[in-house]
Amino acid sequence: MKSLAIITVLFIYIKYVHMWSYNPICLVTECCNKDHIPGDTDKLIRLLKERVYGQHLVENAVHAIAAHWNPHYKAPKPLVLSFHGWAGSGKNYVSNFIAESLYKYGTKSKFVHLFVGRIHFPVREEFKVYQQQLYSWLKGNMTQCSKQLFIFDEIDKTPPEILNAIKPMIDYKDEVDGVDYTQSIFIFLSNTGSALINEHYEELWNKGYVREDLKLSHFEKLIEKGAFNEDGKYKDYSSDNLKILQSSEF
Ligand SMILES: *[C@@H]1O[C@H](CO)[C@@H](O)[C@H](O)[C@H]1NC(C)=O
Repeated sequence: MKSLAIITVLFIYIKYVHMWSYNPICLVTECCNKDHIPGDTDKLIRLLKERVYGQHLVENAVHAIAAHWNPHYKAPKPLVLSFHGWAGSGKNYVSNFIAESLYKYGTKSKFVHLFVGRIHFPVREEFKVYQQQLYSWLKGNMTQCSKQLFIFDEIDKTPPEILNAIKPMIDYKDEVDGVDYTQSIFIFLSNTGSALINEHYEELWNKGYVREDLKLSHFEKLIEKGAFNEDGKYKDYSSDNLKILQSSEF
């Protein structure tokens, strides 16, 4: 009788106190819990320091992420990070580091999604199909776990209609069609805006700024202009919806 009581108490303990971290299913499959989504921003800082040269601007992303998943504060909307820079500037490294630090299985996590413009959305005329597909994927995944990371690479080669389809989800809204997106993180990667950045960098450099003095605010407006307005189609996008960061070699 006594042992039965102990077992019951133990069961209740496991079920309610350690419901997430000790769920036996989570030993064999990836779960939406702290073990599988550690959200380790210290690791992110370490990786950035060790592996990315001269990317001090990117560290702003770390603070944004840490604040976003702060358990004592409910974010009012998804976190949107946007990295721009010419090919090889390290923006893909940075997004991989983010995945590696936030998720135990990194880019292989089922909570991390990579969409590459030319691969996933190759035919512009098909945008309606893509929109629907993407919408149901985002919704389907968000319903299972709120801490999802969606990475959109080559957004400059992604039909603008696709980005417009995501817009409602990254706006200030509690819910979109019954789904709460506020805990999710969206990363946009593109090569656009880089010409402008280079020019501007040179200008500041000539004025005597050194790399470490260059602040995000020096680039924010510029990137807004360059990244989303280049063909006029992204215009809607250059609003405050985007937390603009850039990861080129500054
Ligand atoms: C989650 O997203 C992936 C694409 O990354 C998709 O293949 C999958 O079907 C989605 N899951 C649900 C339940 O919608």
